[in-house]
Amino acid sequence: MKKIQFTETVLRDAQQSLIATRMPFETFEPILSTMDKAGYYSLECWGGATFDSCLRYLNEDPWERLRKIRKACPNTKLQMLLRGQNLLGYKHYPDDVVKKFVEKSVENGIDIIRIFDALNDIRNIEVAVKQTIKSGAHASGTICFTLSPVHNIESYIKLAKDMESMGVKSICIKDMAGIMSPQEAYDLVKALKENVKLPIVLHTHCTTGLGLMTLQKAAEAGVDVIDTAISCMSGGTSQPATETMNYVLSQYGFETGLDTKVLKEINDFFKPVRADALKSGLLNPVVMATDTDALTYQIPGGMLSNLVAQLTAQKKMDKFEEVLAETPRVRADLGYPPLVTPMSQMVGVQATSNVLAGERYKNVSKEIRAYVKGEYGTAPGKLNPDVVKKVLGDEKPFTGRFADTLPDGFEEAKKYLGDRAESDEDVLSYIAFPAQAEAFFEKREEKRSRTFTYNIEKVDD
Ligand code: CO
Repeated sequence: MKKIQFTETVLRDAQQSLIATRMPFETFEPILSTMDKAGYYSLECWGGATFDSCLRYLNEDPWERLRKIRKACPNTKLQMLLRGQNLLGYKHYPDDVVKKFVEKSVENGIDIIRIFDALNDIRNIEVAVKQTIKSGAHASGTICFTLSPVHNIESYIKLAKDMESMGVKSICIKDMAGIMSPQEAYDLVKALKENVKLPIVLHTHCTTGLGLMTLQKAAEAGVDVIDTAISCMSGGTSQPATETMNYVLSQYGFETGLDTKVLKEINDFFKPVRADALKSGLLNPVVMATDTDALTYQIPGGMLSNLVAQLTAQKKMDKFEEVLAETPRVRADLGYPPLVTPMSQMVGVQATSNVLAGERYKNVSKEIRAYVKGEYGTAPGKLNPDVVKKVLGDEKPFTGRFADTLPDGFEEAKKYLGDRAESDEDVLSYIAFPAQAEAFFEKREEKRSRTFTYNIEKVDD
């Protein structure tokens, strides 16, 4: 029997795409032991925006969350998403920090680390991949899929082969914008199966309505693992529904290993979570609809919700269409970077600024400046020379690997924090998100002094 396996994304990408990663641990804690019995290939539950969101909005220790999930799900592989040399943040970190972060992620319970670089620059995933392997976990080498005049099947095969020689255990095609058509999925999966010996994983989103068909054609081409979300948290900017894909693929004769009864229990559990999010406005119906504009604009789910949030906050939603139209122009100027974090945010903010300022590249963020200089890695295509000139002036571009210019960072951060860091994990939280981590440490301390009680065993009166 043909076999296909499922990665459930509700705890990471699905909630990141639909409700800005605001689901606290207590909300999903009661269903974890059930999820452990569903028969998933893996449970994507950490990394991406979860780490930032825990510290910034939920007053949660992300490491503690991971340990608790690990404890509740002893039989399921736990998976995280890592932005290569950017870890879970938006800039490059020194190698000692990357190694320590990967080591601690595995130590705290992660089995599979999906590692990508926004530009598909292999130099930016190498340290994380090697450390994952050294720590005894599964490194999944990731291709950021995008459509552009400079991306094609040959370029993706080369990338997959390079990652295979690096020692990754699987290759993931990451279609963060949900723009991969069924035919493209079929052709790419088939080509990869013919050219590398590793399991192929496909990650997509329903944003444009292609997702379900894309996964089906990928299955026909021999894909080994697909990413799906439990149905009430699926669709729109999220993943295709787990139960639907299980239903369809089972009829086609695939063995999925999933237990439909357990899936129903999981879905019943998340239905009220979704209803609450709709009621509070956290879940905006806009992100649940099918939006074929993304086929033209290539806006991934997270970026789309960010743009809506940014423009709404500035009371400039009337400029939404203009910003959507400016986005692909900025992307072309920048040599067609795939629109994945942090590139998607950088391009989105630049497009917004170009429209709102009424002059293109009048204001340029320091991130875009660093990108144009070459500090993020090699762009897939050629940058627009006029834009380079406007941004850099006479400054020379940088061609090396940026992390090589960074001094070690872990010990210094540890020294700076002193007693406030209770573990190496705390130090890593601080390095990743300094202000948020320090605020979190403070609140943690406060909470403790409030709840401190004497443990009186003997009384003197
Ligand atoms: Co995604």
